[in-house]
Amino acid sequence: MSLRLAAMAEAVLRTGDGRAKAALSLDYAAQWAAARAAGAPLEIGTASPPDRPARPARPDLLDPRDVPRRRPGSPQGRIAMLHAVAHIELNAVDLHWDIIARFTDTPMPLGFYDDWVKSAGEESKHFNLVCDVLEAHGSHYGALPAHAGMWRAAEDTATDLMGRLAVVPMVLEARGLDVTPDMIALFEKAGDAGAVAALRTIYAEEVAHVAYGSKWFHFLCGRHELDPKDNFHDLVRRYFRGPLKPPFNEAKRAEAGLPPDFYWPLTETQGK
Ligand SMILES: [Fe+2]
Ligand SMILES: [Fe+2]
Repeated sequence: MSLRLAAMAEAVLRTGDGRAKAALSLDYAAQWAAARAAGAPLEIGTASPPDRPARPARPDLLDPRDVPRRRPGSPQGRIAMLHAVAHIELNAVDLHWDIIARFTDTPMPLGFYDDWVKSAGEESKHFNLVCDVLEAHGSHYGALPAHAGMWRAAEDTATDLMGRLAVVPMVLEARGLDVTPDMIALFEKAGDAGAVAALRTIYAEEVAHVAYGSKWFHFLCGRHELDPKDNFHDLVRRYFRGPLKPPFNEAKRAEAGLPPDFYWPLTETQGK
């Protein structure tokens, strides 16, 4: 008998080892897709997601100020950069399942779950891809310290689905679209074809994650008769610390359904 979707999400969140978390996530994403294709969607059910997801014993999680900085031009600097990307991708696996597990009180169309399950599967693949590259370089996820506090955005928006959509896909994942092209160029210059291929896959797939965020944010604004732009500004100012940082990848943001008048006004520091 198959689990309900929210229980699957909770099981992923409660799995600590990174590769095991990714494997379970991919398995559940495939089960959801197969049931949908067969015209017999799994039930959503309810769950009790942990406040913080289980994580492996390593990496050590440090305050961002204490994470050693390495020159991006050096081989060690590039390993550190890939390690940071692996950490972001593992966090993303949990973020995508958390939005499924945490907000089951809010009735949402099945398409909402389709989108987040698909992207949770993609985040799991991204984590595996970056781990493969690290391992090909003789390193691994857990070999270096990583940023603590990545779960902050999830905690801050644990009771506000629109806030979660505004801050996680529409601010944090959109930021990924801004910075990834420079990262790809850096690895191209270093002749690291494996890293370039992994980052290109990530870059191509993240556009849809931002788009899902924008789509469901607009859906909920419509349900509550709220102006999407004003509501986005209010929620980002409430839940996100500090201004958004240009330069923005305006072309990819547009592809993902994020117009400039959503993010440009948030580049100015305002009272939270
Ligand atoms: Fe990703
Ligand atoms: Fe993503």
